[in-house]
Amino acid sequence: MVRALEWIDATGTLQLIDQTRLPDRELYLAVRSVDDLVTAITSLAVRGAPALGAVGALGVALAIAQGEAEAWSPERLAAEVDRIRQARPTAVNLAWGVNQTWPLAGQGVPAVLARAKQIVAEDEAANRALSRLGADWILRQTGRERVRVITHCNTGALATTAWGTAYGIIHELHDRGALELVYADETRPLLQGARLTSWELVRDGIPHVVQVDGASASTLLRGKADVAIIGADRIAANGDTANKVGSLALALACQRAGVPFVVAAPSTTIDLLTASGDGIEIEERDGGEVLSFGGVRTTPEEAQGYNPAFDVTPCDLISAIVTEYGVVEPQTTPDPGLLARIAG
Ligand code: MRU
Repeated sequence: MVRALEWIDATGTLQLIDQTRLPDRELYLAVRSVDDLVTAITSLAVRGAPALGAVGALGVALAIAQGEAEAWSPERLAAEVDRIRQARPTAVNLAWGVNQTWPLAGQGVPAVLARAKQIVAEDEAANRALSRLGADWILRQTGRERVRVITHCNTGALATTAWGTAYGIIHELHDRGALELVYADETRPLLQGARLTSWELVRDGIPHVVQVDGASASTLLRGKADVAIIGADRIAANGDTANKVGSLALALACQRAGVPFVVAAPSTTIDLLTASGDGIEIEERDGGEVLSFGGVRTTPEEAQGYNPAFDVTPCDLISAIVTEYGVVEPQTTPDPGLLARIAG
């Protein structure tokens, strides 16, 4: 299994697979400084909510080591850690990861690293547990022996510390012989589905087709898919879920088609401090990402881009939220306290 991130003890560096170069090149970055890490996060060399949580936690160790080498003041160190925390606003895991290790800064790099490595291990365990629960729920709910799945963006090993969330469920279904086909949305404008999910599906030998994002509504309404499974960047206390832009359109189409819409995420993606989706900050990226394809401009010079990277799916469009602790069904059993009990 590919590892999106790995702490290299011998060199004190964070190794990241450069996801901006996939699928053509499998290149690894050796991140040694806060500047390098913030650039890797904002350029999406490392991305996906759980992976961001892990690099946030490990990034504190990098910052402390750099601060020691360059004799930073305590204020400078705090400001640099804050740059990591705020590098991307929507995935709650990034700030969560930083906040897990920053309080240990006074105990030095070894204590910070120990907690960060624990976070990495816990994420993989959560992904594997939620994948089993999600596969059970989907097979029970659809009543099918083999399912056809739509997914959006990339939620595999690349987006996590290992195995994946929505992708983990797909992998689990495949391992059980219960998967017929995956429709992977290409995920405009940065093509996480076409470049990354397809790359992982090929490596794992999982049958799939890549479709343009605009095809998924028709795929659903023509009865070609049995379930949609997505990941999450932030799940508010009421179950409203932020994920890659296009997720909301998929949920609306699922509602019309009568197909279950499943959100899969570790409990670390639940943000109890945000009451509902209205409180979730949506990252707006450079409009230029929308105005070109493969580095070639596709619009008139005068065109402006609008580039929200995420959208929020209201909880009443979500059939199931699958975490490592269990499955919540916001449509049938809306229980405001349930997510709190899971996250707690
Ligand atoms: O902008 P990205 O590529 O970081 O967006 C990622 C997603 O939207 C994923 O679906 C989400 O982070 C869950 S990853 C398990």
